[in-house]
Amino acid sequence: MPLPSKLSDFQLKWEQRDDPLCFSGVWRFHELLPFAPRQQLVSIGEGQTLLQVSANVGQYVGLDPGHLYLQYEGLNPSGSFKDNGMTAAFTHARMVGAKRAACASTGNTSASLALYSAASPDVRAVVFVGSGKIAYGKLSQALDHGGLTLQIAGDFDDAMRRVCEVAPELGMYLVNSVNPFRLEGQKTIMFRVLESMRWESPDWIVVPGGNLGNCSAFGKAFSELKHLGLIDRIPRLAVINAAGADTFYQLVEQRSLVWDIELSDFPMIDQYYSELDQNQQKASTIASAIEINRPVNLKKAIRALDVCDGVVRAVTDQEILDAKAQVGVGGLGCEPASAATVAGARLLRKEGVIGSRDRVVCILTGHLLKDPTATISYHSTDQQQFDEVLGSRGVRRAAFANRPVLVPNAREDIMRAVQLYT
Ligand code: F0G
Repeated sequence: MPLPSKLSDFQLKWEQRDDPLCFSGVWRFHELLPFAPRQQLVSIGEGQTLLQVSANVGQYVGLDPGHLYLQYEGLNPSGSFKDNGMTAAFTHARMVGAKRAACASTGNTSASLALYSAASPDVRAVVFVGSGKIAYGKLSQALDHGGLTLQIAGDFDDAMRRVCEVAPELGMYLVNSVNPFRLEGQKTIMFRVLESMRWESPDWIVVPGGNLGNCSAFGKAFSELKHLGLIDRIPRLAVINAAGADTFYQLVEQRSLVWDIELSDFPMIDQYYSELDQNQQKASTIASAIEINRPVNLKKAIRALDVCDGVVRAVTDQEILDAKAQVGVGGLGCEPASAATVAGARLLRKEGVIGSRDRVVCILTGHLLKDPTATISYHSTDQQQFDEVLGSRGVRRAAFANRPVLVPNAREDIMRAVQLYT
């Protein structure tokens, strides 16, 4: 499989899009993730995603017009970026003859796994989720696609520990982002961003940090492209934690953990985890997708920061939900974890770390419909619902709420309401 001499050669594949593997936004770049022969690749049309300039969101972040881009990964078949990685992991699972594939999940990995398994029923999906810990949109996908769904009495970190314990014994193929093939697939998100920018690197990539698979994959993608001489410049990476699940932020920005090949700093990580245990500190954020205190890709992510001269920030649930509402009125939509990128970019802009003329790409990792509870609670007039779902997480106000208007079932009242509010 010869490698194209320049990235723009990949565009030629688009002319052959009647071939599903050229249509796929992942396998179009097969030469840059050449671990499987063509005839073994599993695809359901993933990676048809979009990079869009957003004027409203750009203004909210504090950038000059035309400088804020949203990479909308919610357009994937299961509604999140996970499909980029799942197509690759699932391909490998079939290559090794797996009969069961398993994951622990905050929801999107399980939805994606269940969908790929439904499309390819020789591999059965088994998902481990924290009980009451995943958003309804995501749970409904795992159930509807026929995945065996185990609701563990605990949170994501507990579910992750358990799936790692039992998977080898039961011969289950693990598709969490500890799986290196997942990360190979997720590299293509960056290839598509570059493609949309006519193969020029932006100044910043901003991504939410949960299990830290995405940021690790992005670092690997840029490091390989540079090494192959396919790009001149590597963008800077900003990884955004939720303040209630901020292990990466604490270690990198507060305790100065850095990458070194000897891994000499890494006892600091164990020390941090034992402090979490001592304080019985559990992850807690409305952005349930990134409600993770023990990210499995932590070490790879530190390396990605090194490659991309990266920074880490943490944003509150209030900042996340306000940013999410801005993305919604800005012409796209996303779930709370994705909006952490916009809140994080805004913070970095305020700090002056991001300049007003920098070209900034925020990765919207999951679709708006994934978490209707968070969205409805923000816009609701029902104070009790607001308090229960959001107030309990320190959210005090909904500055950008679009309240539903209650109207009697009467023609005149309805007409008046439309005239009053538009
Ligand atoms: N955004 C969304 C919508 C996610 O679902 C996740 C992770 C992330 C961001 C964080 O990405 O782990 O690569 O740092 N969701 C996982 C899951 C953990 O189980 O669905 P990451």
